[in-house]
Amino acid sequence: MQRQKVIAGNWKMHKTVEESTAFGKNFQNKILENSTVGIILCAPFTSLFQIRETLTGNRIGLGAQNMHWEEEGAFTGEIAPAMVKSAGCSYVILGHSERRQLFGETNETVGKKVEAALRHELKPIVCIGETLEERKDGKVETVLDEQMRGALDGIDTAQMQNVTIAYEPVWAIGTGVNATPEQAVEAHQFVRGWLKENIQDGIGQETTVLYGGSMKPANAESLLRNADIDGGLIGGASLDVDKFTELVAIATELS
Ligand code: 13P
Repeated sequence: MQRQKVIAGNWKMHKTVEESTAFGKNFQNKILENSTVGIILCAPFTSLFQIRETLTGNRIGLGAQNMHWEEEGAFTGEIAPAMVKSAGCSYVILGHSERRQLFGETNETVGKKVEAALRHELKPIVCIGETLEERKDGKVETVLDEQMRGALDGIDTAQMQNVTIAYEPVWAIGTGVNATPEQAVEAHQFVRGWLKENIQDGIGQETTVLYGGSMKPANAESLLRNADIDGGLIGGASLDVDKFTELVAIATELS
């Protein structure tokens, strides 16, 4: 099966409603309607509904950056899956390393969120990745294994069709130091092997696996040209409409 290249932006805690909709309008005018690349924008909760209203058609997928696993209730400050869905999202980033490191997310809570997302027909983009210390200690595969086990506990083959994995080494996020293509490919191949072994034979090749961590127009081609790297989850460079458009163009070239 030929997997489609995907360029996904993670705006993190950036952009007001006005800034987000201005980006949406501008970006929509720049991208080619006939490009076969998947495009996803993961905006702050506050901007989601307005961006969906701004974008015409479904060319650009919209995603949230987190959500709670419960249906509703007394969880001040949290957002439920149905809310994310009704704001116009079809995707949700789950288990981003910033959420794990700064907001106490664990492999177990990520697993609950993945299950809740799938139940609500939201497509989770599950983030995994090791810290620099873990890499130096030779623990990359152990960490990825634990994170995948937690996130994908009980997920079957049919559900896996809607799951994207994003390999984001923590040391490469926001540092300007991207993983080398060799390091990224090695991790992506481990992920595919894990899926094959733990979920189902064909799933390893069917699942979209993105790379995230300082991806930008200058290094995207060297990463995206590898068959095992299906695309990018892009932080800093997704905030600039020209850079993000260039990333879509680079992925389109390679498709
Ligand atoms: P940067 O592209 O800013 O390194 O961020 C990557 C990331 O965390 C995407 O989720």
